[in-house]
Amino acid sequence: MIRKPIFAANWKMNLGPSETEDFAKSFLSKVQNRTFPCDIVIAPPFVSLSKAAEILGNVSSIALAAQNCSQYDSGAYTGEISGMMLKEFFVHYVILGHSERRAIYGETDEVINAKVRKARELNLRPIFCIGETLEERKSGQLEKVLRTQVSIGLKGLSERDLLDTVIAYEPVWAIGTGVTATAEQAQEAHAFVRSLVAEQFGNDSAAKIRIQYGGSVKPNNAAELMACPDIDGALIGGASLEPQSFLDIIQNGA
Ligand code: G3P
Repeated sequence: MIRKPIFAANWKMNLGPSETEDFAKSFLSKVQNRTFPCDIVIAPPFVSLSKAAEILGNVSSIALAAQNCSQYDSGAYTGEISGMMLKEFFVHYVILGHSERRAIYGETDEVINAKVRKARELNLRPIFCIGETLEERKSGQLEKVLRTQVSIGLKGLSERDLLDTVIAYEPVWAIGTGVTATAEQAQEAHAFVRSLVAEQFGNDSAAKIRIQYGGSVKPNNAAELMACPDIDGALIGGASLEPQSFLDIIQNGA
């Protein structure tokens, strides 16, 4: 398979600098001098990036991500962080369009698209999140919702930029709930998302783009989910906060 799986830890608003130091040292002791058949990414909160970069910045098997970035370069945007600033912390990926950003902070598909494009302009790799709520799924709107999110969110990207983007399919009802999509549900949604990419960018790009699954991924369900042909890794919240648990997911799923 041409797609290398990617396992990313999204810590959300957890693990400040001193907890990050503990995590990073422990994780490093478990992974150093080992090679993995996948990419490993860790997304700490902004204020912990410096500590993470200090300990993990030179470890070739691990890349750092931010959990958000501005669509602007600099200026009067109180509370915002630009992509350019992130690059000083060895950040190579940025999570964009997470359902928490969409639902709690009102980020629209258009804003997310502007952020995705800005990230690519700066050579950061977006982890572009999409996914439906339970109400949307139950009322038969799954495909419509995913189609809108993908078509607007990825609008205007070149093929090169698209392939440096990772899509994370995270059904909102599976996030932090302990309810995981079944492998069948996840595979079906991933195959549909890949078909949307094919419509927009062609079959070749669709075959190459990586699509991660996120939503209550744990060490004991990673293998089954990752065995699905269109699932290329995972975006992990709660179970990525503890080094051994994150590593177990990687080992069981990759
Ligand atoms: O971005 C990861 C995420 O939303 C899933 O969270 O805690 O269900 O693994 P969790």
